[in-house]
Amino acid sequence: MSLKTKFPTDFVWGTATSAYQIEGAAALDGRGPSIWDAFCDEAGRVANGDSGDQACDHYHRFREDIALMADMGVTAYRFSISWPRILPDGTNSTLNQAGIDFYNALIDCCLEHGIQPWATLYHWDLPQALQEHEDGWLNPAMADRFADYAAVCFEHFGDRVKHWITINEAWVVAILGYGQGVFAPGRTSNVEPYQVAHHLLLAHAKAVDIYRRQFKPAQSGLIGITNNCDWREPKTDSQADREAAQRALEFFLAWFADPIYLGNYPDSMREYVAERLPVFTEAERDLVLGSSDFFGLNHYTTMYASQSGDQVQESAVYGNGGLSEDQQIDLSVDPQWKKTTMQWAVVPWGCRKLLHWIADRYKNPPIYITENGCAYDDHPVDGEVHDQARIDYYAAYLEECAHAIEQGVDLRGYFAWSMLDNFEWASGYGQRFGLHYVNFETMERIPKASARWFKAQLNPEG
Ligand code: NOJ
Repeated sequence: MSLKTKFPTDFVWGTATSAYQIEGAAALDGRGPSIWDAFCDEAGRVANGDSGDQACDHYHRFREDIALMADMGVTAYRFSISWPRILPDGTNSTLNQAGIDFYNALIDCCLEHGIQPWATLYHWDLPQALQEHEDGWLNPAMADRFADYAAVCFEHFGDRVKHWITINEAWVVAILGYGQGVFAPGRTSNVEPYQVAHHLLLAHAKAVDIYRRQFKPAQSGLIGITNNCDWREPKTDSQADREAAQRALEFFLAWFADPIYLGNYPDSMREYVAERLPVFTEAERDLVLGSSDFFGLNHYTTMYASQSGDQVQESAVYGNGGLSEDQQIDLSVDPQWKKTTMQWAVVPWGCRKLLHWIADRYKNPPIYITENGCAYDDHPVDGEVHDQARIDYYAAYLEECAHAIEQGVDLRGYFAWSMLDNFEWASGYGQRFGLHYVNFETMERIPKASARWFKAQLNPEG
């Protein structure tokens, strides 16, 4: 029995990418620089001195890439729009027509192949001009800048794009960009993440407000935000550990989801970081509450959480606990768990538990897993990439998704990360997440065994 038969017939099956990670053509056709171009230019920031200058050259090869997607049988493609390709200096005083043309061609090509375009508006590539001259996401005015940019996108693409994601993984922007300093713009602070997060939430909500008032009546699409979260399992059954795991999820996912679904930051955050957490004005609260038509979720891994003792255990750079000392939490993994090359543990049941946690806390909203996947050290052998570990990962995570649906969770779609091997941020090209292998010298694409496996699941009749 193919996996597809375990899911509702209208379930959305897709793959996902983001602009800076695949497009390349960084200095071409009027694109302005983003904070990631600047970050990659700083020595020591990105493994191997890599950058997204060329990436997968998707800018020139998108037709081939979309044909590969169609061949897999997916019906949706989640990509991101590069803000500085549309508005090179970040503001809507200069519109870059070549950027508009590129995304028009991309969207049309998806539709010609029967693939629904799901567009993310912000996947971390803030125009560098807004960072340099306006202090980026530390400035509350960024919310209006973002809403202006979003409106340009709705105006030009909204006749064909019916699913919008405002911001990808605000937690990563706040914690890795402003807390740990390992992502652009590389700042380290235990105050700024909370300010940045507040501004990101307001940016999201303003864009949604504009969409709903000015565009939705004619375009009738859906709009939401995508947040990321690992599962946190209590290390022991003690009350302290159970509370620690709960708190860890609140500092991770509820930080962004509670304001949208419940109208405020979680109690635990207001208690533990009271003096650093911004307070919503009444008008802000009203704007943010109810501002997502669906619950976008990126999920990769699981860790144990326990009430912190003397030692705060930090794991790999990305996927760790954030500012653990703020939450007074220790994180660890079971040494038996298999790991991907990101050092993220493969724990499929964590995905099901997280889906239930979301359904319980937010009254069973429609959920789309907008990313799930794994990196392995793939190499072609006689022209083929045998990534059995990735097939096992997807099969196991999807099995848990199917269980969650059976148990009543309103999960409506799943996007595999990623369509292609690509620029994995601070890890450069060293981490391969793709269903398709990319030879970064020749730009050749090779469907991995996992892409063929997906195809077989999605086309059970062959
Ligand atoms: C989340 C991010 O949205 C994406 O850009 C990244 O490549 C994957 N996770 C894997 O780390």
